[in-house]
Amino acid sequence: MYLFNKNQGILLATFIMLFLSFLAVTAEAKREATKKDTHPMVTEQDKLMPCHECHKTSTPRVYQEWFESVHGIGNVKCYQCHGTFENMQRVPDVNRCAVCHAEAFDHSENKPCWQCHKAHRFQVSK
Ligand code: HEC
Ligand code: HEC
Ligand code: HEC
Ligand code: HEC
Repeated sequence: MYLFNKNQGILLATFIMLFLSFLAVTAEAKREATKKDTHPMVTEQDKLMPCHECHKTSTPRVYQEWFESVHGIGNVKCYQCHGTFENMQRVPDVNRCAVCHAEAFDHSENKPCWQCHKAHRFQVSK
C-alpha cells in the first residue's frame, strides 16, 4: 500500500524542495550580512584614529573620492554613513542619508541612492 497517491507525492516533494531552498537562501543571506557588516580586525589603539586617516592608506581610492566630494569638503565623515566599529554597515542603510537628505526620498523612486549617485563621489550628474 502507498501512503500517498501520485499527485500528493509530487506536491509533498515540491513543498520539501521549496522549504530546503528557502533555508539555504536565508542561511546564505545571514552569512553575507555578518561578513559585510563586521569591520576587519583593528587594535583598540587603532580604533582611536579617525576612520579616514587610516583609510587614506587602507582604501586609497575610496578615500580620494570621498576627500574630493561634497561630503569630504563638507566634513561629512565615514562613520556618519557607515556607523562606528560597534554598529558598522558596509552598505549603509538609506535612513542614514535621510538624516541630512529627507526630502531626497521624493525623487529616489525607492531605489538605493547610490544607484544614481555613485559612492563615494555622490555626484548629481551621471
Ligand atoms: C587602523 C586602520 C583602520 C581604521 C581606524 C578604520 N578602518 Fe575601516 N578598514 C581598514 C582595513 C585595513 C579594511 C580592509 C580593507 C580591504 O579589504 O582592502 C577596512 C575596511 C572597511 C570597510 C569595508 C568592509 C568590508 O567588508 O568590505 C568599511 C565600510 C570600513 N572599513 C569603514 C570604516 C569606518 C566607518 C571606520 C571608522 C569608524 C573605519 N573603517 C576605521 C582599516 C581601518
Ligand atoms: C555619504 C555616505 C558615505 C560616506 C560619507 C562614506 N561612505 Fe563608504 N559607502 C557608502 C555607500 C552607500 C557604500 C555602498 C556602495 C555600493 O554598494 O555600491 C559604501 C561602500 C564603502 C566600502 C566598500 C565598497 C567599496 O567601494 O570598496 C568601503 C570600504 C567604504 N565605503 C569606506 C568608506 C570610508 C573609509 C569612508 C570615509 C573616508 C566612507 N566610506 C565614507 C556611503 C558612504
Ligand atoms: C551628516 C549629513 C549627511 C549625510 C549623513 C549624508 N549627506 Fe549627502 N550631503 C551633505 C551635505 C552637507 C552636502 C552638500 C550640500 C548639499 O548639497 O546639500 C551633501 C550633498 C549630497 C549630494 C549632492 C552632491 C552634489 O554634487 O551636489 C548627494 C547626491 C548626496 N549628498 C547624497 C547622499 C547619500 C546618498 C547619502 C547616504 C548614503 C548622504 N548623502 C548622506 C550631508 C550629508
Ligand atoms: C533614480 C535616480 C536617483 C535616485 C535613486 C536618487 N537620486 Fe538624487 N538625484 C537624481 C537626479 C537626476 C538629480 C538631479 C535632479 C535635479 O537637478 O533636479 C538628483 C539630485 C540630488 C541631490 C541634489 C539636488 C537636491 O535635491 O537638492 C541630492 C542631495 C540627492 N539627489 C540625494 C539623493 C539621496 C539621498 C537619494 C536616496 C534617498 C537619492 N538622491 C536617490 C537622481 C536620483
